[in-house]
Amino acid sequence: MRTPFIAGNWKMNTTVPEAVKLVMDMKTQLSAIKNVETAVCPPFVSLTAVKEALKGSDIRLGAQNMYFEDKGAYTGEVSPLMLKGLCDYVIIGHSERRQYFGETNETVRKKVQAAVKAGLRPIMCVGENLAEYEAGGSRDVVQKQLLTSLSGIDIPHDLVIAYEPVWAIGTGRAATGRQAQLVISLIRETVAGVYNTAFADGVRILYGGSVTGDNIAEFIGQEDIDGALVGGASLKPDQFISIVQQTAKVKNV
Ligand code: 13P
Repeated sequence: MRTPFIAGNWKMNTTVPEAVKLVMDMKTQLSAIKNVETAVCPPFVSLTAVKEALKGSDIRLGAQNMYFEDKGAYTGEVSPLMLKGLCDYVIIGHSERRQYFGETNETVRKKVQAAVKAGLRPIMCVGENLAEYEAGGSRDVVQKQLLTSLSGIDIPHDLVIAYEPVWAIGTGRAATGRQAQLVISLIRETVAGVYNTAFADGVRILYGGSVTGDNIAEFIGQEDIDGALVGGASLKPDQFISIVQQTAKVKNV
């Protein structure tokens, strides 16, 4: 039994006071929904304040990125050791990191490994871009991302995978539930091949890309989809709460 999981990726939005307000606006209602795990991933500079604001709730905290070295001369970077004890989760390999900051499957691999070593739970993102999608290459691209990024890593027990087709991110053009299910079942199969079926059956795999309160039910109703990584709609308390409520209802937890 996989616990449904809804995580909000706030991206480069909210000042520190805005981040605290956003969490305060959602905390009570989110806490009332049992058996769906929720997390918010604010910008680095708000992590401490948001952690404080989350006290007394079960809502988890995640970072949006980290570097793979523990410390050293890497100006502007944040290390696993700095996040340890502060966050539960860390998003790794988001397509915006790949697209704008040169991250590759190999840096993603190093980061996943470093997160596991530090006791952080990685939310590892995979997904094809529009050209790859249109060329019918979604499955190959995602499989390659997975195989490279997990290569040489011992069973990452706390791994969460997010399938985010790049063409669906921030575009309002979400995948259909069926499309997402097809790729996500392939992801599960691939993870089983890398490790084993028991582990793959327990790994939570999320869909991300233009998820809203209007379409969440379609995704969460699919057999292999365990939740969502939500961008824009996670900045709107009503939307985010509705996404979590509907998840509880559809998954019948
Ligand atoms: P949107 O929900 O804004 O499309 O963003 C998805 C995403 O990138 C979450 O990580």
